[in-house]
Amino acid sequence: MCGPVALHPNEKKTQVKQIVSSETGLLPIPLAISPVSSKVTGMSNDQFNDLTSLATYLPSRRSGRPRNMVAPGPSDAQIAEIVILAMRTPDHGKLAPWRVASVATDQRALLARGFTEAYRKEKPDAGRLELEGLEAMAHEAPTLLVLLSSPVASTKIPLWEQELSCGAFAMNILHATHAMGFVGGWITGWPAYNDDVRDLFGSAPEKIAGFLYIGTSNAELSERPRPELENILSFWTPVVPE
Ligand SMILES: Cc1cc2nc3c(=O)[nH]c(=O)nc-3n(C[C@H](O)[C@H](O)[C@H](O)COP(=O)(O)O)c2cc1C
Repeated sequence: MCGPVALHPNEKKTQVKQIVSSETGLLPIPLAISPVSSKVTGMSNDQFNDLTSLATYLPSRRSGRPRNMVAPGPSDAQIAEIVILAMRTPDHGKLAPWRVASVATDQRALLARGFTEAYRKEKPDAGRLELEGLEAMAHEAPTLLVLLSSPVASTKIPLWEQELSCGAFAMNILHATHAMGFVGGWITGWPAYNDDVRDLFGSAPEKIAGFLYIGTSNAELSERPRPELENILSFWTPVVPE
């Protein structure tokens, strides 16, 4: 069922009106696409995450900086829809070797305490600035999803493949976030590699694959350098044995 016409703050720049497709506010992206432009660099500031179509979104996709993310962020129902969409991720063996924990605003102080206690334990001489950085990391953005790689041991599917699937799941969370008109960002940093922090959310052999921040950017997105195509793509020309 279609809801009212809605303009999310992130879309003001493009003035593209989107029909809300569900009560959670997912913006439909037309799938009848024209060929994707090969020019994905040199974007101007107002062209990022252009939801006009899939063909405009993919070459304009850009993450936001968590420290620049403000309200509105997704509601709990929208967070659930983002995760449902991301569950459509390639996954050898149908193991779903990934999961997310959403850290609500009123739990962020406890998360900050978990970060700083773990850091002090590892680095007893921690300086004030380091600890303030961790405090900030726990409080940034309206929504914070902790992404866990949760590999299944009792399977012949290699761990590497399960971790690859987790990375793809993270990318799909970003896509779903952007499709809903918000901006997302994927950060690791020191807490992602600390077992005490991991234990706040899970247990070995799980690993924190990242902190996924979601909100509305209060700063213009800007382009970052992209690799040269010739360093990434080659057309294999094997030497044919005589
Ligand atoms: C697994 C992973 C971890 C990352 N961790 C950090 C980080 O700790 N700090 C940071 O500034 N960027 C980090 N980044 C990069 C950010 O996601 C960065 O915003 C990224 O360059 C955005 O590029 P995009 O606009 O193409 O998505 C990480 C990226 C990945 C994939």
